[in-house]
Amino acid sequence: MKHTKIIDLLSGNLLLQEVTAKGWVRTFRNNQFIALNDGSTLQNIQCVLELDAFPEETIKRVTTGAAIMVQGVLVESQGKGQKYEIQVFNLEILGDSDPEKYPIQPKKHSLEFLRENAHLRIRTNMFGAIMRIRSTLAYAVHKYFQDNGFFYVNTPIITGSDAEGAGEMFQVTSLPIDGSAPRNEDGSINYKEDFFGKPTNLTVSGQLEGETYAMGLGSIYTFGPTFRAENSNTSRHLAEFWMIEPEIAFLDLDGNMDLAEDFIKFVIKYTLEKCEDDLKLLEQRLLDEEKSKPQAERSEMSLIDKLRFVLDNNFKRVSYTEAIDILKNSKPNKNKKFQYLIDEWGADLQSEHERYLVEKHFKCPVILFDYPAKIKAFYMRLNKDEKTVRAMDILFPGIGEIVGGSQREERYDVLVEKMKALNIPEEEMWWYLDTRRFGSCVHSGFGLGFERLVLFVTGMTNIRDVIPFPRYPQNAEF
Ligand code: 4AD
Ligand code: MG
Repeated sequence: MKHTKIIDLLSGNLLLQEVTAKGWVRTFRNNQFIALNDGSTLQNIQCVLELDAFPEETIKRVTTGAAIMVQGVLVESQGKGQKYEIQVFNLEILGDSDPEKYPIQPKKHSLEFLRENAHLRIRTNMFGAIMRIRSTLAYAVHKYFQDNGFFYVNTPIITGSDAEGAGEMFQVTSLPIDGSAPRNEDGSINYKEDFFGKPTNLTVSGQLEGETYAMGLGSIYTFGPTFRAENSNTSRHLAEFWMIEPEIAFLDLDGNMDLAEDFIKFVIKYTLEKCEDDLKLLEQRLLDEEKSKPQAERSEMSLIDKLRFVLDNNFKRVSYTEAIDILKNSKPNKNKKFQYLIDEWGADLQSEHERYLVEKHFKCPVILFDYPAKIKAFYMRLNKDEKTVRAMDILFPGIGEIVGGSQREERYDVLVEKMKALNIPEEEMWWYLDTRRFGSCVHSGFGLGFERLVLFVTGMTNIRDVIPFPRYPQNAEF
């Protein structure tokens, strides 16, 4: 039986026509009013049963969570709360849902409980809204780049390189891990016998491979899963997350900052236009959540105002050196309120510092640039001062770092020297160095953590709630 999506029924185009709807029962009132949802929109459609028109056996099976089909006439609703409803003449139970056992009852569940039921939480208003927004944002990402002459590149997920030099990688092997793996004479594992003939890991970033493609296609972007085995049990870190990494030939750091800002504004604007209902629901969720917080900790702006604020204001561009001065002289630093006190130039910024700059000092998104070379990856372009590199991080209120990027070191000699100093084996990076040997040029790019973007746009507070099945330390359920 062909059915119409609820979002289309609610447009009213089929008024007074016979329609079929399929979905899951949210609530059933007075043995008469079914609130039916099919995921196509936040809104339910009200399905009205005439009393005694259906066998009691069927009525009993209309329970929260059950999948049903209704056929009826789409009419203007007499009742409050909805514009249209279906006057049902045929009702079929497609899949029962035992009300004694179905975990998602029509009441408020905690986010923790819903995380444990991540396979069912998508049937709640909140998660429907979050995941529709996530999908819209993903579409906007592709739209932005495709409309601006970028090519979508799929970089490998299994790789032999550690792009970020962070060493926090998940190893990939087909060798036994119970100690019986083949050994070299010196006792080390003989990776020649492994599947790829060398040690490999899940990618932490597609950047290095992306760079090689930018050197042929001009402007590229990746949008794929990345993996980090960092033991960060925080509300901002996942072990498996999606990253968007554009890479552009003949672009310097200023152009890179312009691009990142324009891109972020586009995807937020697009989502504001397309997801009004869902955003309103999440705005209300945030208000309710904040009611339980002390006044000082509540946000000054509502969710939608916060999104508009990002669109309407320039991101503040500040050098690392200026930022350190601000932090050194800040109240929490002087009163020793920071967990990590800032006492000298060169200190790595922790999320408490980033959030101070964004939320307390500048009160707007901030782009920090020209970081000390020592705290950044090997591939970033060294400045004339030989102390700093052309790095940039974008910091967002409530999130901290949302983007990390840089102008890349395009000078072969400088790059090789840097790799030597950091013990990065040249033989393994021969292909990367080739881009600097043959037709090297100024180029730049950045990585945006997709879940951090979804976190910001949805106003959720834990990154585990904006990806369908989160992976984090001690958890790989589902
Ligand atoms: O700053 P990162 O480590 O930069 C890179 O990977 C570069 N290769 C990007 C590039 O220049 N092409 O990571 C980029 C972004 C961070 O700003 C953050 O938003 C996100 O990825 N990110 C994470 N998101 C969720 N969970 C984690 N564990 C994350 N680690 C980084
Ligand atoms: Mg970073």
